[in-house]
Amino acid sequence: MIIRTKDELEAMQEIGAICANVLKKMGQILEPGLTTKELDTIAGEMFAAEGAASAPIVCYNFPGHTCISVNHVVAHGIPSDSLVIRPGDVVNIDISAVKNGYFGDTSASFAVPPVKSTVERLLHCTQEALRQAMAAAVAGFPLNGIGLAVEKTAHRHGYKTIRNLCGHGVGKTLHDEPDSIYNYHEKRDRRLLTPGLVIAIEPFISQRDEYVEDESDDGWSLVTPHRCQVAQFEHTVMVREDQPPLILTAATI
Ligand code: CO
Ligand code: CO
Repeated sequence: MIIRTKDELEAMQEIGAICANVLKKMGQILEPGLTTKELDTIAGEMFAAEGAASAPIVCYNFPGHTCISVNHVVAHGIPSDSLVIRPGDVVNIDISAVKNGYFGDTSASFAVPPVKSTVERLLHCTQEALRQAMAAAVAGFPLNGIGLAVEKTAHRHGYKTIRNLCGHGVGKTLHDEPDSIYNYHEKRDRRLLTPGLVIAIEPFISQRDEYVEDESDDGWSLVTPHRCQVAQFEHTVMVREDQPPLILTAATI
């Protein structure tokens, strides 16, 4: 969507903060021994307390309030009673929710101690890719500057980007215009960023593979062919003129 009024901005900041607060809380309580279903239940309770609803459930009838993807699962992991968090796990939590018809979308990858140095490097690079991508998201500049920033950051660290997972417009629907905000430099993409445009920027940085595929058994989980580690961080932002975008998924707790 394109934010045109103060009311629209406030509504997007409200749902953005709800998503960010749930993500922050889940990151804080994440520890060995918890199941991903227990984590997800807490998210569901927080959404309900805020008058929000899980976007994956509303939009896709997903079997969970949130996507929790552990280790080699890159995205769309289903919260499970039988998946117990263990020391050394890498856990991606993706939160998207809706309130009063407005959607927010944010995620982070967390490493459960003890953290391998290779994982620490990957997480650091992915956070840096999100920062660089956001810095490129200025009105009047090409949309594909986002992917260029992600790709450059990945390559500088010796990593790859996942080419078939993209950022997207967000606002009155979870996946709004513009679609396919690539995590690589797509030269043929001529679109420009406009003031007020709301987009979810979500770099996926990979140790090796450049594509994800369905893991056949559950119909949701995405993995890479070599089951290599991938990390992802995501913010919903509003594009502005002459300055970096406003982060709508900013935590207030
Ligand atoms: Co997301
Ligand atoms: Co998203």
